[in-house]
Amino acid sequence: MNVLVTGGAGYIGSQVVRHLLEQEHEVVVFDKSPGNKISSEAKFITGDLSDKTLLETVFKEHHFEAVIHFAGSIEAGESMKNPSAFFQNNVVNGINLLEAMVKHKVTKIIFSSSAAVYKPKDGPLHEYDTLAPENFYGETKLKFERLLHWYNRIHGIKFVSLRYFNASGAAFGMGEKHDPETHLIPLILQAAFGQKDHIKVFGSNYPTPDGTCVRDYIHILDLAQVHLLALEKITEIPQIYNVGTGKGHSVQEIIEIAEEVTGRKISVVDASPREGDPSFLVADPSKIEKAWGWKARYNIKDIIQSAWEFHKNS
Ligand code: UFG
Repeated sequence: MNVLVTGGAGYIGSQVVRHLLEQEHEVVVFDKSPGNKISSEAKFITGDLSDKTLLETVFKEHHFEAVIHFAGSIEAGESMKNPSAFFQNNVVNGINLLEAMVKHKVTKIIFSSSAAVYKPKDGPLHEYDTLAPENFYGETKLKFERLLHWYNRIHGIKFVSLRYFNASGAAFGMGEKHDPETHLIPLILQAAFGQKDHIKVFGSNYPTPDGTCVRDYIHILDLAQVHLLALEKITEIPQIYNVGTGKGHSVQEIIEIAEEVTGRKISVVDASPREGDPSFLVADPSKIEKAWGWKARYNIKDIIQSAWEFHKNS
C-alpha cells in the first residue's frame, strides 16, 4: 500500500514506519521535524499540516491509498495552559488533512486517538464508557474522532480510531525522547542515569492503593503491530478501539520496577498534582481482542528494560 504517515518521525510514528517498510509498503512521512527520521526508503517531507498548499502538492504527487495520522500536540498538562494551540494543531490542521483526502479520493485513515477522551473511572475503561475528557488535549482528540464520524457519513471516509493508553518502551534503537521531556518513564530513567537529581511524583493523595496515579503502559512494538492490522481490517464501518494491556501500574510501582531493572536507587520528591491528571486510566482491551484477535505481548518489565537499553545507548 502507498501510505502517508503524518508525524511519522515521532516516537510512535517512526516505529510504525519501520514496520510498514519491513512489510514492503510505500511510505511518505510528513513531519515538522526530522526526529527519528528513518534513513531508508521512506520519503520525508518537512512540513506542517497548517500548510494547505504543501498538502495539496503532496497529495497531488502521490497516489496514497491510506493515511496514518499521528501528527499533533500530545502533552495533556500543556493543553491546560495553551488550549488554542492544541485546537489549531489537533483539530483545525486535522481538517486540512481530511479535506485533502476527500479532494484526492483517499478513503482510509487510521487515527492516533487517546485514552484521554474518557471520563476517568476507578476501573477498566470500555469503548462505550462516558466520553468526557479531563483535559483539553483529550477534548481535541475526541473532537477529531467526531469529525471522522461526520466525514465517514458525508464523504465515505473509512476510519479506525485507536485510543492509546500510555505508549512506552523502545525498540530498534528508537525510543522516547521528547523535548522537553514530560513523560514518566524517560524522566525516571534520566534520574537513574544521573542526568537528573530526582523524579518528582505529581500527587500522592489520589484515591488509588498507594496514592499515586495509575496508568496502563503499552509497549510501542505492540502499538506498531496494531497499526499494521488496522490497515488490513479497515472497512466502511467506523471502528474505535482501546489499545492497552488491561493492567494498571502506579507511579510508585513504576519507580520500584525501574530501580529493579536498572539496579540503581532513584531519588523521589513529592510534588503537587499536575492539572488535568486523572487518577486512574486503564484499558479494557477486550473489544480489539474479540474483533481482531490482538493482545499486548509485552509487560511493564519488558517496557522499562527496553527503555533503559535505549536510554543507556543514546
Ligand atoms: N508523572 C509524575 N512525574 C513526572 C511525570 C509524570 O509523577 O515527572 C506522573 C503523571 O502525573 C501521571 C503519570 O506519571 O500520573 C504518567 O504521566 P505521563 O506524562 O508519562 O503520561 P500521561 O498519562 O500524562 O499522558 C500520556 C500521554 C498522552 C495520553 C495519555 C493516555 O502523554 O498523550 O498518556 O493515558 F493521552
